[in-house]
Amino acid sequence: MITWRVPRLFRPLLNGLNIGKAQPCKVAEHSQAPATLQPERSFSSTHRLHDVPGDPSSAERVTVHFINRDGEKLTAIAKEGESLLDVVVNQNLGIDGFGACEGTLACSTCHLIFERDVFQKLDAISDEELDMLDLAYGLSDTSRLGCQVCVKKSMDGLTVQVPMEVSDLRRQMEVGKQSKQ
Ligand code: FES
Repeated sequence: MITWRVPRLFRPLLNGLNIGKAQPCKVAEHSQAPATLQPERSFSSTHRLHDVPGDPSSAERVTVHFINRDGEKLTAIAKEGESLLDVVVNQNLGIDGFGACEGTLACSTCHLIFERDVFQKLDAISDEELDMLDLAYGLSDTSRLGCQVCVKKSMDGLTVQVPMEVSDLRRQMEVGKQSKQ
């Protein structure tokens, strides 16, 4: 099989064009049983809605805490297989500027800092993610991009820190283009 590597300098450009989109998390296919109405009590006519499609079952639920820039703790119930970017977006967590490129590895605004023991258990990091992390502000040795980290059941109770500063590489590229004109 022939493999080729995009030279490091050109990767952000390709990512900006959404070429080679890098969204590693695939939400596991779960049987989406239709919502069923079950009687709560045999003597009542009141019904309760169970298993609403799209809501994770308790077996799939993973609690994730984000410490926002102002120190506020934002807690979300994630679904196994989502990326941490999906969690922030789907649950409308108020993290300013997070996920500007929608997970196409072109911005680094989804930069998160992990606790060391969790960081060591994360899936391997790709060259593309490393390149983008190089450009992130406030980089630490336990930094990852939230759009590249998939939620797993073993992460239940995870706490991640949102860095104080955020950099959107796409804006830097725009500024660079304008200054050359
Ligand atoms: Fe842009 Fe992750 S959302 S790199």
